[in-house]
Amino acid sequence: MRNSPEGSILLWVRYAFCRVNDWFICVGRYGDLGGCMAGERPHSVACIANEEVQDGRLSAPSAARNIAPILTALRPYLPENGYALELASGTGEHAISYARTFPGIVWQPTDIATERLDSIDAWRAQAGLRNMRLAQFLDATQPDWCADGFDVMITVNLLHLISGPAMRAVVAGVARSLAVGGRWCLYGPFRSGGGFRSEGDRAFHQSLSSHDPDIGYKDVETVEATADQHGFACLARLEMPANNLMLIFEKRPH
Ligand SMILES: C[S@@+](CC[C@H](N)C(=O)[O-])C[C@H]1O[C@@H](n2cnc3c(N)ncnc32)[C@H](O)[C@@H]1O
Repeated sequence: MRNSPEGSILLWVRYAFCRVNDWFICVGRYGDLGGCMAGERPHSVACIANEEVQDGRLSAPSAARNIAPILTALRPYLPENGYALELASGTGEHAISYARTFPGIVWQPTDIATERLDSIDAWRAQAGLRNMRLAQFLDATQPDWCADGFDVMITVNLLHLISGPAMRAVVAGVARSLAVGGRWCLYGPFRSGGGFRSEGDRAFHQSLSSHDPDIGYKDVETVEATADQHGFACLARLEMPANNLMLIFEKRPH
């Protein structure tokens, strides 16, 4: 089935749905920002996003799907104990899983979208996790943000939704915040070797940039070079399901 034409079409449709779903979730937020991304969120988009509201908890199918491989990839790179900050936490489902899976770490979720901050706190309340803090507003693309006191930062599925200068602001902020030896775990879809990693990725990038030409996939080499300029060593570039990558950076001594 997987190799048959029908199977390929089904897989592609499922892939496209997941990618578009990720994107619509973010379009909802950019609509709130009043124009960081083209277009308001029409009612139909809110439906396509397929987020279920349960007592304030939002659910993104992509978050449930990619969390297991993300946890596996993170395990060798996270400390036993410490403090971690997640940028662009989204619904909060990932944060709950991080806190459950790595109980020695205190987790600080953040986002820019009010409804996502509420959702994160609703998931936190329902889970009753003592090693997860209340969600905080943090715009990771602001030029001067800084969050001291964290050993680890995690960013999942953000860079393809922002511009090149915004990506550099994210890298600079993480670099400003982490002390020497601190780690940044960065997951998402990228271009590599000068091209897209699949036709589905090319189509998703085109759909993003057709709405806003400034956003879309970043070259992994550009992100790694930017991180290098900001004092990071790249410890690993891990292949993840659905052509995603997980990059693990560590802040070098000055
Ligand atoms: C595709 S969702 C990913 C959410 C979550 N990391 C996940 O993978 O399920 C992108 C998230 O980035 C947030 N976001 C967008 N721009 C941001 C910014 N400048 N700073 C922080 N978060 C941002 C959105 O509100 C949204 O929750």
